[in-house]
Amino acid sequence: MQNFDYYNPTRIVFGQGSITRLDELVPADARVLVLYGGGSAERNGTLAEVEAALGQRTVRRFGGIEPNPSYETLIEAVALIRREQLDFLLAVGGGSVIDGTKFVAAAAPYDGEPWQILEQGGSVVSRALPMGCVLTLPATGSEMNCFSVISRKSLQAKLAFSSELVFPVFSVLDPLKTYSLPPRQVANGVVDAFIHVMEQYLTYPANAPVQDRYAEALLQTLIEIGPRALASPQDYDVRANLMWTATQALNGLIGAGVPQDWATHMLGHEITALYGLDHAQTLAIVLPAMMDLRREAKRDKLLQYAARVWNIHSGGADERIDTAIAQTRTFFESLGVKTRFADYAIGAEAVPCLLAQLESHGMTALGERQDMDLALSRRVLEACL
Ligand code: NZQ
Ligand code: ZN
Repeated sequence: MQNFDYYNPTRIVFGQGSITRLDELVPADARVLVLYGGGSAERNGTLAEVEAALGQRTVRRFGGIEPNPSYETLIEAVALIRREQLDFLLAVGGGSVIDGTKFVAAAAPYDGEPWQILEQGGSVVSRALPMGCVLTLPATGSEMNCFSVISRKSLQAKLAFSSELVFPVFSVLDPLKTYSLPPRQVANGVVDAFIHVMEQYLTYPANAPVQDRYAEALLQTLIEIGPRALASPQDYDVRANLMWTATQALNGLIGAGVPQDWATHMLGHEITALYGLDHAQTLAIVLPAMMDLRREAKRDKLLQYAARVWNIHSGGADERIDTAIAQTRTFFESLGVKTRFADYAIGAEAVPCLLAQLESHGMTALGERQDMDLALSRRVLEACL
């Protein structure tokens, strides 16, 4: 196992009815900005519940944070905070609202041009406003990590930053709040969480049996409950387990002390930046091709994945790997998430455009061994067609 420093200060308050706990979680004298998305939290009553729980505190609202949150929108929230001297942020939504709130938390007290926070990957962040979350979409794990991914439309760029200063202080996870999700977002969440686990698991053996078995448990749970979350949208236990699984898929624990990949995500971010696909759609396209083309470097873990996650035990090694890749693709497709560029009307002309984006963002040495160059990215992208 490699050396690691695992730190996660986010308090999780889980279960139905837990929004009322906001009264004890948010400081009594806080001047609160509630940030939300395009209106789902307003329509399904979550926002009203949140505001009721905040009681007599000074509360302002900032809505309209879009999926793949944009710098252009978030910068308006920064201005509002400075104008009204607000000092506590509460994100009510999915990964986009939470990521957007993390950026706003770091940008509000920042002296320079806030885009530098993204350009420098978060290293320039020395202060941030405290923030909490009310999660409405199990998917990204953003509610219990210190990552944020922001898009700047004018530059067609989607960049990530991280800082320990933007860990949420707390996150309220009420599975009832996911009942209003459209099937597409439920499926996206299952796929995103699955691939978060894969990015931290499907590398090379590192003598870390607990991390491996924990990752396999999360994958098997997603395979088991993903279809049920779609078939029975109001099954509380299924939604509760999905929520807790997605949080744990990216709260740092399974990745502690093991090599990590993240190449699928880096290619996926460029696809969203250029073509606007949902985050999970991009991952579902890239991962099967990535597994196939990096099968030599990932051979041992691919065979372990085949045996332990999909119970594939017969046939030669390459045949077992082929079957595991095919099962993975079939799983995504069974949830309704398509796995080829052609399904999204994207043709071969996309490949050079995506490679140029990767190059301009310095994504030229990806993967757990930093050996995935642009030539290999080209082969992966071509295999996605
Ligand atoms: O905007 P509203 O009206 O709220 O609707 C949203 C949005 O249209 C809707 N929604 C959310 N909760 C709902 C609901 N609709 C009905 N009922 C509810 N309870 O769902 C739509 C998608 O929301 P979004 O927040 O964009 O989805 P998700 O949670 O999948 O977040 C995706 C973003 O997270 C980033 C992605 O890149 C993408 O920008 N990621 C963040 C990560 C992190 N911080 O660790 C890691 C991930 O790999 C990912 O990159
Ligand atoms: Zn993701």
